[in-house]
Amino acid sequence: MHDTPEADHIADRIRAIAGDAPVELGLVLGSGLSHLAEAVKGRTIPYADLPGFPQPSVSGHAPKLVVGSLFGARVALFGAREHYYEHGRPDAMRLPLETVRALGAERLLLTNAAGSMRADIPPGELMLVTDHINFSGLNPLIGEPTDARFVPMTDAYDPGMRQGLAAAARAEGIALNAGVYAWYSGPSFETPAEIQAIHTLGADAVGMSTVPEVILARFLGLKVAAISTITNMAAGLSDEAISHDHTKKMAPLGAEKLERLLARYLTQA
Ligand code: HPA
Repeated sequence: MHDTPEADHIADRIRAIAGDAPVELGLVLGSGLSHLAEAVKGRTIPYADLPGFPQPSVSGHAPKLVVGSLFGARVALFGAREHYYEHGRPDAMRLPLETVRALGAERLLLTNAAGSMRADIPPGELMLVTDHINFSGLNPLIGEPTDARFVPMTDAYDPGMRQGLAAAARAEGIALNAGVYAWYSGPSFETPAEIQAIHTLGADAVGMSTVPEVILARFLGLKVAAISTITNMAAGLSDEAISHDHTKKMAPLGAEKLERLLARYLTQA
């Protein structure tokens, strides 16, 4: 599949700032995880300087791209994503992901904050996403005119990347739970009845992102994996009130483990 002229143009602009070496991995940071951007030794480019890039407006996300070395791997790190609930665009991350591919990346690692439906995966835990349920009915490829839109989604979460991440977690002594992530559009949180329904359907965690990016990544031929940091028990499953402030407050609990996991993964893979 050919890169789009827009993505090629932006990739040229990024290379002029951050250097020509091909990027190995794209990394998208979820709510409250943006401090990882500081660990990258490289150049920072605000999305505002990249024409056509989204201008995410969610607190706890930093809208900047950092290209450089993270634990020895050359990465393009997205400090923020645009969520569907911001402007109603399921394909909001298409250009950024096309750009990451134009920069040479073959792998994409997505992170997010999520609510858990599993008592054995409480807040502070990490969950490696094994599969997803698109509970929104939306799709970022609606309107794509080519037959490439018929993307197979079996093993969408790349088995090789999952094995690598699981091995890195074992080596670091980090418990890496595995489970199914359900995408709920947001921005309102789910009702307890919706959570019961999603859990009955087979989901272990719920969040407002990631799924459209996984579909886009597979469309673009990128290998993709996703890790959730569990920030709360989903609606109705605990007495704790659910809020965005609470998500931001809790995300750093998992962030320390996520950083160690990534350090090991990027060093070994
Ligand atoms: N629901 C949806 N998105 C979330 C949640 C949740 O409980 N926690 C963090 N992001």
